[in-house]
Amino acid sequence: MKAPVRVAVTGAAGQIGYSLLFRIASGEMLGKDQPVILQLLDLPQAQNAVKGVMMELEDCAFPLLAGMVATDDPEVAFKDVQVALLVGARPRSKGMERKDLLAANAEIFTVQGRALNKVADRNVKVLVVGNPANTNAYIAMKSAPDLNPNNFTAMLRLDHNRALSQIAAKTGKAVADIEKLAVWGNHSPTMYADYRYATINGESVKTMINDHEWNRDVFLPTVGKRGAAIIEARGLSSAASAANAAIDHIRDWVLGTNGKWVTMGIPSDGSYGIPQEVMFGYPVTCENGQYKIVEGLEIDEFSRERINFTLAELEEERAGVAHLLG
Ligand code: NAI
Repeated sequence: MKAPVRVAVTGAAGQIGYSLLFRIASGEMLGKDQPVILQLLDLPQAQNAVKGVMMELEDCAFPLLAGMVATDDPEVAFKDVQVALLVGARPRSKGMERKDLLAANAEIFTVQGRALNKVADRNVKVLVVGNPANTNAYIAMKSAPDLNPNNFTAMLRLDHNRALSQIAAKTGKAVADIEKLAVWGNHSPTMYADYRYATINGESVKTMINDHEWNRDVFLPTVGKRGAAIIEARGLSSAASAANAAIDHIRDWVLGTNGKWVTMGIPSDGSYGIPQEVMFGYPVTCENGQYKIVEGLEIDEFSRERINFTLAELEEERAGVAHLLG
């Protein structure tokens, strides 16, 4: 039996936590032969609820679940973790302005970044799910100077998966056959899902669809506003699909994509003209626990406009928290 991997999940008592933890413990994220120890962080007032979730995890008798810890202290939750899923965040409350939301989250992710810096495994892989995910990931990365900045990532996989299913519905083809989809930018309605390079069984998706108006007026708004549409329909935000995307993101990062393109929010290395360190959605492939940006894609005028638009939003968020980072 392999040695257990320590996995931290923050916001463990929340909606996404409830969809996520059972799948991690069943082996869906790190493999069916990989035991895990779950280290669960939530606020003091949520500790009772976390205990309830742990009772249910116990009652599943998962063979791969080698231990659990519940705490409200980030330094306990992140001790020696090799994977950290930062899901808990401050939601926007009534009347709260965007800048207040950014500031409240900046405080959370500064504290958590510092704690990771102090106690996590030196190769910890961090995925930020809590919104605003890209900027929260940027803050955590900047607060952890002793860790590899490339190990801080933000979740754009839900946007990627949403785009895949819209393309499958439009073309009448199977999701599994779609290759080479990219999503650029921020996890927000400004993201740019780009199927110009996508193929289905080797055939160009762009040629198959051949409808720029559909791309601009239906596809991009549908993917961008899907979260709001789910809240409208369900009365609650998307949690199971978010948890599923988090599992996909970490599984692919750790176990590899076998050449397949996926989307990850990662600190820019300057590729495609994005300023260094901006936490940006890029098409990547993963191998041996490392991601690599898909290089050499031509960016046409429409795409450049969309990429600049989502970049401007990220730059604005980054400027909005700059004074909090020292
Ligand atoms: P939720 O409100 O059900 O749960 C959030 C949990 O986080 C609560 O248990 C809360 O007590 C906890 N929490 C708050 N501050 C914390 C802190 N400082 N430390 C530890 N725990 C803390 O929310 P839900 O539905 O689980 O969503 C969580 C986050 O994920 C939200 O920010 C949401 O906007 C975001 N999200 C991101 C997506 C993405 O694609 N990146 C998709 C869907 C949701």
